[in-house]
This record gives sequence, structure tokens and C-alpha cells, in this order.
Amino acid sequence: MKLPHLLTVDGLSRRQITTLLDTAVEMEAVGHREVKKIPALRGITIVNAFFEDSTRTKMSFDLAAKRLSADTMAFASKGSSTAKGESLRDTVLTIAAMGVDGFVIRHKGSGAPQRAMDWTGLPVVNAGDGMHGHPTQALLDAYAMRSRLGDLEGKHVAIVGDLFHSRVVRSNLACLRTLGAKVTLVAPPTLVPQGIAEWPVVAAGPGDPGVEITSHLDDVLPHVDALMMLRVQRERMSGGFFPSEAEYAEGWGLTRARLARLPEHAVICHPGPMNRGLEIAPEAADHARSLILDQVAAGVSIRMAVLFHIFAGDPDDPGEQRNDANTPAATGHESEGST
Ligand code: CP
Repeated sequence: MKLPHLLTVDGLSRRQITTLLDTAVEMEAVGHREVKKIPALRGITIVNAFFEDSTRTKMSFDLAAKRLSADTMAFASKGSSTAKGESLRDTVLTIAAMGVDGFVIRHKGSGAPQRAMDWTGLPVVNAGDGMHGHPTQALLDAYAMRSRLGDLEGKHVAIVGDLFHSRVVRSNLACLRTLGAKVTLVAPPTLVPQGIAEWPVVAAGPGDPGVEITSHLDDVLPHVDALMMLRVQRERMSGGFFPSEAEYAEGWGLTRARLARLPEHAVICHPGPMNRGLEIAPEAADHARSLILDQVAAGVSIRMAVLFHIFAGDPDDPGEQRNDANTPAATGHESEGST
């Protein structure tokens, strides 16, 4: 399968997502070899351009490219000429002029990876843009959950917390719904994006009940196969989205008491970084059924798979692009956001 880029999950078919997950299984095996490297991307130069802070995404893209034998260049806006006022367009055109083969881009602006691709004509992987999307996060989440729960068709995943600022929820909705999972969104009413019920990935359709949205975590808890806790993005909150951190934890946090009421087989996910004691209790984060470090490990395998299918995929097999929903408008969000 050949992918031209990865800007969003929205346009990917079930077959394409499953192929990426299956390739990631093979890539995980590379990480268990004595020499953790294959020559698939020898001679390819990939730029990891992070205009916004990151630990796991940035480092795992770097490791993924190195395990595929690609050359990598790291760009961080801090310490670069961006600080002197150089625009995104001039920055990516400057780097592209050095003869690189593609970009991995994280940026606070929704749609920035799309624009970088349009300007440079090079393949781009979206490593998180504003409140639009974080496609490799959704793929690695699916990978980690599938590894523990099996096929996600019919599995019930509840995504809980700060839906308003989260690009992770937008990508996860597209990925999980395409894979046939049942998704419930749980959040305080103030952290539910306006108009969410009309998003194509949420709305009901023929033979499809759509996504349930509720503020009552305790009603959902006993019925889930996976509970995905989202980070409360305090740095984005100028006003009062909830009365106090204690009240947020009591209403929507995965507390010790709620941990005890989770079904015995259910797994716990969090994209990281975590606010321990706010959206997730330390006992839940470190529990045997927590997939949080599995998600981090899956990030390397999934990002290897994505880079492989973009830069070394079979050009005679373009996959089945379901539609071209590669714009922020597809999910209706233009402003800034994070994980
Ligand atoms: N989940 C996630 O994107 O984490 P980082 O911001 O550390 O990359």
C-alpha cells in the first residue's frame, strides 16, 4: 500500500487502517532484533519539524525513521529563525530547498501540515495540528487496544474529559468508528464542543446509531472495554471550564473508586502527558490494565509503519481512500489545541 501523506485519519478506509496496524506488528518485531534496523528508507531524509512542544511524538518519530535507516533532521521552533519572525511558509521552503524528502510537522495551527505540503510538494505527516487532528496518536491507540482486546469491531470505547481542546478525540473518533468500535464521549457540559452532534464522525446515519455523548461517567463505566482519559489542557483554559480541580476529579476523573468499578477486562488509555491526580489517579495510571506505556511503545511501531507506507509503499497499491477529508473543515475546527 502506498500513502501519499498522512494529514488525518478521516479519509482512511478500514482496509488502509488495518494495513497500517498489521505493518506495525512487523515493525514491532524489528525492535526485538539484535540489530534494531532495516534498510527500507536508506537514502531518504525526513525532517521532524516541531513548532510546538512534544516528548513522545517527537522522539518516537525520530526513532521510527532511524529504525528504517532514514536520515533525520530535527527542527524546533525554539532557537530557530522562527523566533526572529520567519514565517511557516519561508521556514518549510528553506528546509525543503536543502533537498529533503518529507516532513513530520507539529504546529499549533490547524491545517499547518496541509499548507506545508501544498507549499513544498513533499509528503507530510501530521504530528498534531491545533484542534484538528493527531492521526498517528489515534493509530497507536488502536494498535495498543487491539493488541490487548483483539479486533475492535463492536468493542466499546469511552473517551473521557477535555473534548473541547482535544485533537486526539477527533482523530480517535474517525479511527475507532472506521474500525467498527462503539464510542461514547463523556465530559462536563462546558468541555463539549458546540455542534459536536453534527460532526460526520459523531452523527447517526443509516444503520448507525452514532456516538453517544453524556456527562455521566459512572453510568458508562460498567459497560466499557476501554476507557480513554484525556488530558485536561489547563494551559488553554483562561476561563472557568469547571469549578475546581477537586470537583473535576470527582465528576470526570478515573479515581481509585472508579477503578474498582471498571469491568475486569477493561483497559485504561491516556495519550499523555498526564495530570496525575486530576483526570487519572496514580493507581489507575500505573495499574496492570493501564496501556499508557504500551501506547508509547506502539508509537514507534505505528510511526515506522506510516513512514514505510509513505516513502517505500507499493505504488501499484494506493489503498482505498474513502474520501479526501484532509482539511480542518472536515472536523470543523480551526483554532489552537493540543493532546
Ligand atoms: N501524546 C502526545 O502527543 O504526546 P507529546 O505531546 O509528548 O508528543
